[in-house]
Amino acid sequence: VFDEVCEMSGVTLTRYMMEISRANPHLKEIESLMNSIQTACKTISSLVNRACITKMTGYQDDGCSINVQGEQQKKLDVLTNDVLKKALRFTGRLTVLASEEEDEPVSMEDRERIYADLRNSDVVLEEGNKYVACFDPLDGSSNVDASIPVGTIFGIFASGEETECLLDDEDLDGTPMDPESRAAKCLMSTLQPGTNLVAAGYCLYSSSAHLVFTLGRGVNGFTYDTHIGEFVLTHPNIRIPERGQIYSFNEANRWDWDSPMQEYVTSLQMGQGQSGKRYSSRYIGSMVGDVHRTLLYGGIFGYPADAQNRDGKLRLLYEAAPMAFLVEQAGGLALTGKNRIMEIRPRGVHQRVPCILGSRLDVEECRSFYNASK
Ligand code: AHG
Ligand code: MN
Ligand code: MN
Ligand code: MN
Repeated sequence: VFDEVCEMSGVTLTRYMMEISRANPHLKEIESLMNSIQTACKTISSLVNRACITKMTGYQDDGCSINVQGEQQKKLDVLTNDVLKKALRFTGRLTVLASEEEDEPVSMEDRERIYADLRNSDVVLEEGNKYVACFDPLDGSSNVDASIPVGTIFGIFASGEETECLLDDEDLDGTPMDPESRAAKCLMSTLQPGTNLVAAGYCLYSSSAHLVFTLGRGVNGFTYDTHIGEFVLTHPNIRIPERGQIYSFNEANRWDWDSPMQEYVTSLQMGQGQSGKRYSSRYIGSMVGDVHRTLLYGGIFGYPADAQNRDGKLRLLYEAAPMAFLVEQAGGLALTGKNRIMEIRPRGVHQRVPCILGSRLDVEECRSFYNASK
């Protein structure tokens, strides 16, 4: 049924999800999550598009708002986080959400209790599957004031898969968390490996807005048609080329990279890699834009470990794992160097991981440099 749907053209995202969930009743709740996500993405697209006119460029407040990872927040980081959070919380399908711009996972229980009271029910969450959403509301936000492409990244896990979680987080005052506390439970349901993802995707805000996502059966891309206000299926069943001719890394970090990475990139620059061709360099500094190009044109993108940042820069739960799921679903590979990103068990919501992804043959070639090192 997935294939049949994909063969058609002129399909809106709303209709696509309707068909998918009628054919796969267990995805009914994912349909409502995707509807909320697409509405949030349309709103964010408009906010980003009009930011210079509506004076939404620049830093939040007086420039003092810092997120939990020490990044200074842009106005649009805060606003887009709010848009996604509100869009998702009213679905009634989430137990927890986690975001780059939220210090800790946010429980949806209080909101659900209000509806339970209105229904005169003791059951806080209604029947049906429950999920945990992780997102990066505005990826590449340092680029946004210059109208350089930015994006939104999301990953959705089933709720209640937290059994083997490695809980080592601490309260803000440094004392270990009580595993029975609500905060600990929220954290445990969030810390799942990429292999547990049931859906993941991104929306790129560029010359067009593209919503690209997977439900674990291939990758489909939709383009926002502003004339009808709908995402329409333009890139059915995206397959990443087996090999590309582009590498995409922040080369300013080159002298801090691990030596396998330095040697690998040098070989591409000299045309001494397996393809025998000299590669081009493309790097936007917005992961969503760089990954979108990599999916369509092939090649390799990454933020590798370096001497300053032993875990690289990208965050596992709402950057690396959702993108790894997408890239693998499109026939590519996503590694930390030697290992699969999808298999990492998170130990913290904002944990960083080295990330190398793209065309299968390119990523395998890169891995051979890591495998040859100790
Ligand atoms: P965010 O704007 O969500 O904090 O993410 C920025 C990330 C990612 O989009 C990009 O690939 C990377 O940071 C760029 O980092 P450098 O500026 O160090 O190259
Ligand atoms: Mn950020
Ligand atoms: Mn990001
Ligand atoms: Mn961000």
